Amino acid sequence: MAPSATHDAQSPPLNAVTVKGKKANEIHSLALTDTDQPYLLYRSLHERPNIVTSASGSCLTLEDGRQVLDACGGAAVAILGHGNIEVAAAVAEQMSKVSYVHTLSYGTSSSEDLARCILERNEVDFDHGLLKAFFVCSGSEANDAAMKCARQYWFEKGETQRTIYVARRQSYHGNTIGAMSVSDMAGRKVPYDGTLLPSVAFVGAADAYHHQRADEDEPQFVQRLVVETEEEFLRIGPEKIISFIGETLSGAALGSMPAPKGYWAAIRALCDKYGILLHLDEVMCGTGRVGTYFAFEQEGATVKPDIVTLGKGLGGGYAPIAGMLINGKIVESLRQGTSAFNHGHTYQAHPVTCAAGLAVQKIVKRDGLIQRVASLGETLGDLVKTAFADCEHVGNIRGRGFFWSIEFVEDKGTKKPFGNGVHFGGNVQRLAFERGVAVYPGAGTVDGVLGDHITLAPAYNASMEEIQTAVSTLRSAYDELVLLLKISSQVPTTETDSKSQRTP
Ligand SMILES: Cc1ncc(COP(=O)(O)O)c(C=O)c1O
Repeated sequence: MAPSATHDAQSPPLNAVTVKGKKANEIHSLALTDTDQPYLLYRSLHERPNIVTSASGSCLTLEDGRQVLDACGGAAVAILGHGNIEVAAAVAEQMSKVSYVHTLSYGTSSSEDLARCILERNEVDFDHGLLKAFFVCSGSEANDAAMKCARQYWFEKGETQRTIYVARRQSYHGNTIGAMSVSDMAGRKVPYDGTLLPSVAFVGAADAYHHQRADEDEPQFVQRLVVETEEEFLRIGPEKIISFIGETLSGAALGSMPAPKGYWAAIRALCDKYGILLHLDEVMCGTGRVGTYFAFEQEGATVKPDIVTLGKGLGGGYAPIAGMLINGKIVESLRQGTSAFNHGHTYQAHPVTCAAGLAVQKIVKRDGLIQRVASLGETLGDLVKTAFADCEHVGNIRGRGFFWSIEFVEDKGTKKPFGNGVHFGGNVQRLAFERGVAVYPGAGTVDGVLGDHITLAPAYNASMEEIQTAVSTLRSAYDELVLLLKISSQVPTTETDSKSQRTP
C-alpha cells in the first residue's frame, strides 16, 4: 500500500514534526484546498493520497511515475503481490459464469471450493478441528460473525445468561461496532465512547516486551497472565462468559508480537476448564503469513480454537473476502438447535470474491509459498535484527515468517517511548517511502496512545533481493530521521495526536 494519511480528520496531522523542511506527510500525499475536494471521502479531508496507476509483483507505480516497493502488502494483505494474471483470469471467468446470487436460495461452486480448500488441508499432518467456513467481506465482519456465532452457540444450549466477551488489552479486531468493542486501541475508540458494547472485559496482553518483569522468566510471565485471566473469569462468573477472543500473533496494535511460549496452550486449558469458547483472530497472522496456514499450528497440539477468523491474505487483496471457521462443537450446537446460523449478509460467500480467494489459495498451495515463508522467515528476521542491531532507538524486533516489526523507543534501557508528537514510526515510514519502499507503521504500541512500530509484511513470493532492499532502505530512513532529530537538537514533542491512529 502506498502510505497515506490515515489520521482522524479532527486530529492534528500524523506528522507534525517537520522533516527536511516539510511536514513528512507532504512526501506522500497532496494537501487539499477547499476548492479542490474530491468526491471520495478519503481517510483525511486535508490530503489526497497518491494515486496508484498500476501495480505488478511487489511494485506500485504512482500517478507521477514514481515506483514503490511494497514491503507490507498494504496491511499484510497482498500475499501474492499485485497484478497476478491467474487470479485476474479466475475472477473474470467467475464473473462471466455467475456474478452474483443470494445465499438464501443459491450456492456456488467457488464458495464451496474455497471452504474445502481451506478446511481440507491434506498437505500437513495437523488436525485443526475446524469444520465449516462462512465468508464475508472484511476481517471486522468476520469477527462480528464470530461473536454472534459464539453467542448463538450458548443460546442453542439454553445458556442465555452468557453475555460477556473477554478480550485482551492492546488488541485490534476491526472497526465495526462489535469488533471495535472487543478491541483495545484507545485512540480509535475515543470518539465512540458510550456507543460500544458494554459486555466486554479485558485482560492483559501477551506482551513480554512491555510487561514481562525483570524478576520473571517466560513461564512465570505466562503463569501471571493466566492467573489474571482466571481471576477475571471468576470475577465475572464463568457461566456468564461467551468467548475469549485474541489474535494468535498480535497485529496492528502490537506489531507482529508472538505470545510467550505456552500462553495459548494455557489459555485453551483455562477456557476448557470453564467451558468458554476460544475465538482466535487470525485475520492478519493467518493464511500462511507466519509460516503455517494457521498461526495457532505453532502453539502446540492442544491449541485448537473453537472459532477462527481469517481475512487479508485470504483474498490477497484481489477481492474483499474474509472468513469465519467453526469447529464441530459449534456446528453440532447449531444443528441440534435452530439448525441455522442466525446471521447473514447480502454479499456473504460472494461467488466472485470466493473465486478470487480460491485462486489465491490454490497458487499459495501449488507454489509451496507457505513453506517458502517458513524457510525464509528466519532469514528475514535475521536481516532486520542485523540491520538494526546497533540502533539506539530500536527497543524490540519481533515476528515470525514474513511478519516482522520494529518497535522504536526514546530510551532503550527504560523502554520509554517517544512522545506522541514525534511520530517516530510514521516519520520512518515516510522517509522510507521517499526512498521508494512502503512499510506499515503503527502507533499507540504501548498503551493505545504512546509507542511506535513499523511492520514489514512482504508478499510470500517477494524475492530476497526485494526483501534486502526493503530492510536496508528502512535502515537508511531510520538513520536519516535520527540525524534530523539530532540536528534539530531536540526531539520535537510539539503536538499530540492521541486520537490519531492508522486504521488497517
Ligand atoms: C487481527 C485483525 N483483526 C481484524 C481486522 C479487521 O479487518 P478489516 O480491516 O478487514 O475489517 C484486522 C485489520 O487490520 C486485524 O489486523
